[in-house]
Amino acid sequence: MKIPFGTITINQETKDLVNKALDSGRVSSGKYVGEFEKQFAKLVNARQAVAVSSGTDADILALAALYDFGVERGEDVIVPSLSFVATGNAVLHAGLNPVFVDIDYKTLNIDEKKIESAITKKTKAIMPVHLMGKPAKMDVIMDIAKKHNLFVIEDAAEAHGAVYKGKKVGEWGDMAAYSLYIAHIITTVEGGVVTSNREDFAEILRSLRCHGRACKCETCVVNISNGYCEKRFANGKDIRFIFERVGYSSKMNELEAAVGIASLNMYHGIIEKRHSNLVAMIERLREFSEYLDTIEEEKDEKIGPHAFPIIVKKGAPFTRNELVGHLEKNGIDTRDLFSSMPTQCPGFKFLGHKLGDFPVAEFMGTNGLHIGVHQDIRQEQIDYIMVMIRDFVKEKIR
Ligand SMILES: Cc1ncc(COP(=O)(O)O)c(C=O)c1O
Repeated sequence: MKIPFGTITINQETKDLVNKALDSGRVSSGKYVGEFEKQFAKLVNARQAVAVSSGTDADILALAALYDFGVERGEDVIVPSLSFVATGNAVLHAGLNPVFVDIDYKTLNIDEKKIESAITKKTKAIMPVHLMGKPAKMDVIMDIAKKHNLFVIEDAAEAHGAVYKGKKVGEWGDMAAYSLYIAHIITTVEGGVVTSNREDFAEILRSLRCHGRACKCETCVVNISNGYCEKRFANGKDIRFIFERVGYSSKMNELEAAVGIASLNMYHGIIEKRHSNLVAMIERLREFSEYLDTIEEEKDEKIGPHAFPIIVKKGAPFTRNELVGHLEKNGIDTRDLFSSMPTQCPGFKFLGHKLGDFPVAEFMGTNGLHIGVHQDIRQEQIDYIMVMIRDFVKEKIR
């Protein structure tokens, strides 16, 4: 049996929309991107959505937008020490300084109790990550942010539609950044989107995704209809060639948006299947609780499952790598549970952190893995995964 980490669901609507986009004569950003943005914003209860070319760009642009709101280059952004590396990369690429805070063993998310002691005069924002689709403790994080006058950008790359204390993730902070990469809950193949309730943030994001140019309209007449733009030469200069801020080349194209619209229409079915898979896998893994941990769904949240994390407990008679080897040999696709960005990613060495600075994140980096929980995983595949784990554990404790 082969159980891939992620799959993409393509249906007839996907194919029809992609073909329509191809036939329309306009494949770079246009009306489908606008439609995708509207529908995505509605799904996550945001007033604005700005589609970009990846989840990493969504993180970068949300951070870079803060320069228009008083943040200075080189100032600090608090991030969890464990995430997919894109979170840390994004802070650096935006020209800001990541200040890492260790994670909580049980949630895999930033340890909210450790945030305040990391705040200094240079701190301007907190970027919590909802890892594996499990929401970070946003009520506590928002209270801290309010007290210290900080922006909050949620990295919701893995958590489309997850709910915490009655609100969807992304509804809490100033902006939220989502990945739309294939293995994610909603996908455009490659892509990302930033949401916000604030029009002024959305305007800056629209400028940033297109080289920082002075154009900020929600709907571009030039892109949608090849029509004449009244604003373009209004001040004697072509505003498309006035670059107001250091921008990026990060637009979504029509083909990606077409895939995304069909994906949004499948969202409810996909999330329910992922959720029932997650609940079943959490329950079934209890059999191995002496040796293996995972996350739990708490009563005040609904996880938007990205993947299923498995943590080899301290003192277990086997290593993560041995378990990974066994699963991979038997056709079960695995990923490490990321790593402590500052101390286990060689690319971050220049920041000067040392092993031991982030013990929980480092523990996950050494002992954690994650496997698929996606919509195409069937009951018999969950049975198979558990049989494979049982065989392995039995052999190790023999
Ligand atoms: C937490 C997190 N942030 C950011 C990203 C970056 O998204 P992308 O791969 O679309 O650039 C990912 C990707 O999986 C992620 O898991």
